[in-house]
Amino acid sequence: MELRDAILRRSTTNGYFLPDPVSLEHQHRLMEAASRAPSHFNSQPWRFALITDPDVRTAVSRIAGRTMESLMAGGKFFTRYRRYFRFSQRELDERRDGIYIDHLPGPLKPFVKHVFSETGQKVVNTLGVPKSLGRDNEKMVGESPLLLAAMLTREEYVDGELSGLYSLLGLGMAIENIWLTTVDLGMGIQFISTPMEFPEAWRELEGLLRVPDDLRLVAMYRLGYLPPEKRRPSIDWSSAHRKRLSQYVFRDRCDNPERDPEER
Ligand SMILES: Cc1cc2nc3c(=O)[nH]c(=O)nc-3n(C[C@H](O)[C@H](O)[C@H](O)COP(=O)(O)O)c2cc1C
Repeated sequence: MELRDAILRRSTTNGYFLPDPVSLEHQHRLMEAASRAPSHFNSQPWRFALITDPDVRTAVSRIAGRTMESLMAGGKFFTRYRRYFRFSQRELDERRDGIYIDHLPGPLKPFVKHVFSETGQKVVNTLGVPKSLGRDNEKMVGESPLLLAAMLTREEYVDGELSGLYSLLGLGMAIENIWLTTVDLGMGIQFISTPMEFPEAWRELEGLLRVPDDLRLVAMYRLGYLPPEKRRPSIDWSSAHRKRLSQYVFRDRCDNPERDPEER
């Protein structure tokens, strides 16, 4: 596969995977890709856990479902992350970032804009949105044949020290290598971030995965092979749009935006 093709096709999988196990060869291809990432002084501060055991996956899925429900019901999610939500094609075309909820059951459509108000949140809760999202998430994580835990060594990942920043950069690049490799292998991948919103849930995950004291769990993912037809969950968003060159690139100095190709 051409590199550019893989980069342009890379995306987050919001929907279901095929139930087929991910072959050991492919699991190791993903890990090989991770290991080729750059790291400060070649320290390779990343560690990964490949999780295929059904009991462990079920336990992770329960934590994911529970935290998704609490996050959506609690009201903090929408206030904390409001700035990332887009509500119209026009807004999307201008900003070209954020996420656009473009797929949801009919009865919920009138409420999506109001979810950021206290009364809107109450309506959303009354309609059972948090429960339904929690259930969907538990099912999607539980049915994913492969879960991946990304960790850093605490020796390198030290808050406030440059090595902490360097390790995060390295891990980010390792994860991107994994992500690009999923495209090549016909696989999909999605962050499991809701447990991270609750420190006690994150600690519970670390306990479940027996993360030793010298490692820190940084991120969790679910992976699997993609079905031929994309299956969207009941509430879904799109985020394929990207900023124009002039919106994120400067030439020489930061007061000089790069010109978009069509302007030249
Ligand atoms: C630090 C970080 C956390 C993220 N958390 C989530 C998440 O909890 N759930 C999710 O579906 N995607 C998550 N994403 C993926 C982004 O939503 C996604 O990359 C972005 O919307 C662009 O979409 P794309 O990956 O399909 O191009 C996260 C990405 C990053 C870098």
